[in-house]
Amino acid sequence: MCGIFAYMNYLTPKTRKEILDLLVTGLKRLEYRGYDSAGVAVDSNDGKDIVLVKRSGKVLMLEEAINLACDEGKTKADSELYTHVGIAHTRWATHGMPSEVNSHPQRSDAEHSFVVVHNGIITNYKDVKNYLESKGHTFESETDTEIIAKLIYHLYREHPNYSFRELVEQVIQQLEGAFALAFKSKHFPDECVTTRRGSPLLVGIKTKTRLATDHIPILYGKDDNIASNHQEHRPRNNSVHDIPVLPRNDSTSEFMPVDDKEVEYFFASDASAVIEHTNRVIYLEDDDVAAVKDGLLSIHRLRKTHDDPHAREITTLKMEIQQIMKGNYEYFMQKEIFEQPESVINTMRGRVNFEQEKVILGGIKDYIPEIKRCRRLMLIACGTSYHSAVATRQLLEELTELPVMVELASDFLDRGTPIFRDDVCFFISQSGETADTLMALRYCKGRGALIVGVTNTVGSSICRESHCGIHINAGPEIGVASTKAYTSQFISLVMFGLVMSEDRISLQQRRLEIIRGLAQLENQIRKVLELDAKVYKLAEDLHKYKSLLIMGRGFNFATCLEGALKVKELTYMHSEGIMAGELKHGPLALVDELMPVLMIVLRDPVYKKCMNALLQVKARNCQPILICEEGDTETMDHSSKSLEVPRTVDCLQGILTVIPMQLLAYHIAVLRGCNVDCPRNLAKSVTVE
Ligand code: AGP
Ligand code: GLU
Repeated sequence: MCGIFAYMNYLTPKTRKEILDLLVTGLKRLEYRGYDSAGVAVDSNDGKDIVLVKRSGKVLMLEEAINLACDEGKTKADSELYTHVGIAHTRWATHGMPSEVNSHPQRSDAEHSFVVVHNGIITNYKDVKNYLESKGHTFESETDTEIIAKLIYHLYREHPNYSFRELVEQVIQQLEGAFALAFKSKHFPDECVTTRRGSPLLVGIKTKTRLATDHIPILYGKDDNIASNHQEHRPRNNSVHDIPVLPRNDSTSEFMPVDDKEVEYFFASDASAVIEHTNRVIYLEDDDVAAVKDGLLSIHRLRKTHDDPHAREITTLKMEIQQIMKGNYEYFMQKEIFEQPESVINTMRGRVNFEQEKVILGGIKDYIPEIKRCRRLMLIACGTSYHSAVATRQLLEELTELPVMVELASDFLDRGTPIFRDDVCFFISQSGETADTLMALRYCKGRGALIVGVTNTVGSSICRESHCGIHINAGPEIGVASTKAYTSQFISLVMFGLVMSEDRISLQQRRLEIIRGLAQLENQIRKVLELDAKVYKLAEDLHKYKSLLIMGRGFNFATCLEGALKVKELTYMHSEGIMAGELKHGPLALVDELMPVLMIVLRDPVYKKCMNALLQVKARNCQPILICEEGDTETMDHSSKSLEVPRTVDCLQGILTVIPMQLLAYHIAVLRGCNVDCPRNLAKSVTVE
């Protein structure tokens, strides 16, 4: 997980400074994906060498280093480059500490024959490294990535007649693990080659005139046996073999985007880095190699299987640049919390017809009969997305009358959970790229289950690999802490329950109550957001403590888990979401007059049980903060500190109770001086296991 950004201007003059600014801005847009160090590679002043600028820390540090290099004249800022390739990276270290030498781009040798940026992990890097060391290569970094730069150089020296793209194709045959890669080379000036397997990568195309096509043909290699061969060819078990060279893919025809030749290409880990330049993008698939030579883009694959398509589609992004800017907010997370009145509406738009009180989910409607016949529903996800499954499980059991299992993707894989053809598996993921979730998806797909993706990112791997799905439409979520995606996932799953129960006579009353509840949400969320100042006051009291216990049960238990996750990841305080029914089985021992406790007590079917828990906590001299229903003075009398949220249907109440928790975690984090949008050790998109 990290951000890759590469930019190529072909016959489109840009000053070196403009190019550097463009690369840095691209990295800033991607910084939420990983941010412990950053770097760029551009041509040297005389165009004969490649210059690397790398810094530990945030992109800002890199920007300062670049500005300094320009001021000192080391990099000629105002020289105009007609055609140029620049590659850039913001890192989230997996191998080797964040440091300058471990930052990307990684290089093949001191002469910078090849440089590469990488997102992901190479699992067989030790074998390849042993091999390359035996051939005399010496390594300077601790990264797995460096083997890629050295390997391509090694192959180049062995096969000097190979094209840049062919070399990359040979390289990826030797790699195991996950990667998105962008290469630049001194030996192939003005060419850029990128590829991916497991980590996302897209290509943005900007031309002056309209593109002549909506598709780019895929050029396949001729040898049908390559895939089966290359498994055996990979170096294994630390043994050092010679790397065999596979048949060349000498497919040559190329893609001509427009009549005039001026064109700019952007290669990025996600669309937020590209949208300010162009809305025309191609999502690359695993093992695609996208190469630009003489300004022409071509997409290659070594081998064609029977269901491989002939072309990759050029899609038009619907996203607006304003959607990824912070506006008047201090942090993206704050903006995203306050966007929830609109984002929940966007999730329901075109799906819930409030006049006719009907729900249609276009992305899964054809699969509903099959889903109704299934043995069980499985909801599989990580982190916050997992909590959205916990939040809606009870309602889905009620509305579908099917067994519903909720699974953490990592644990699900560890257990090798039995999956059957008549299972329906939901994969919930904001990014659509979470490695554990994606792997669980492939596991279930391989066993014949129906795969339903619930994601926020169009074109993401989970989106593409699902049979059908619900796009949650929350808009880009930049803050690492997930907020608006949670409420939209929640609503998406509720809508699914409503669709499933459409023809159940006995459930009609309940369905209507929920649909009417959904109609009120926008205004009710606005009301909850008015609590902001009050929540800030609570945060002032709490931010010096070491711990916060959050208790609740029933429909609001998920809010406790999610609230605790927000507090942990943003404030670095210890926090635990506790099922109130479990208090006497252990957690009550933590409670005394010094322990901060927050309890969610609503007038729902478990109200009495929650009140019992409240009394037990109070009996230990603890003064819990309460989240309760507007006007419920009887409950509020039990505490001097309470937050009132509007009443809604019991199964939707979690949408309203989670928002004060998001605000609370946000304010505590700011008061503790934490970086809200980029918490330490975390990244937005966890594309490694
Ligand atoms: C949320 O605040 C977290 N940063 C994290 O738990 C996240 O929800 C998890 O990594 C899953 O991500 P996904 O929804 O993109 O799959
Ligand atoms: N595995 C590589 C490294 O540790 C890339 C990590 C990333 O995706 O940022 O350098």
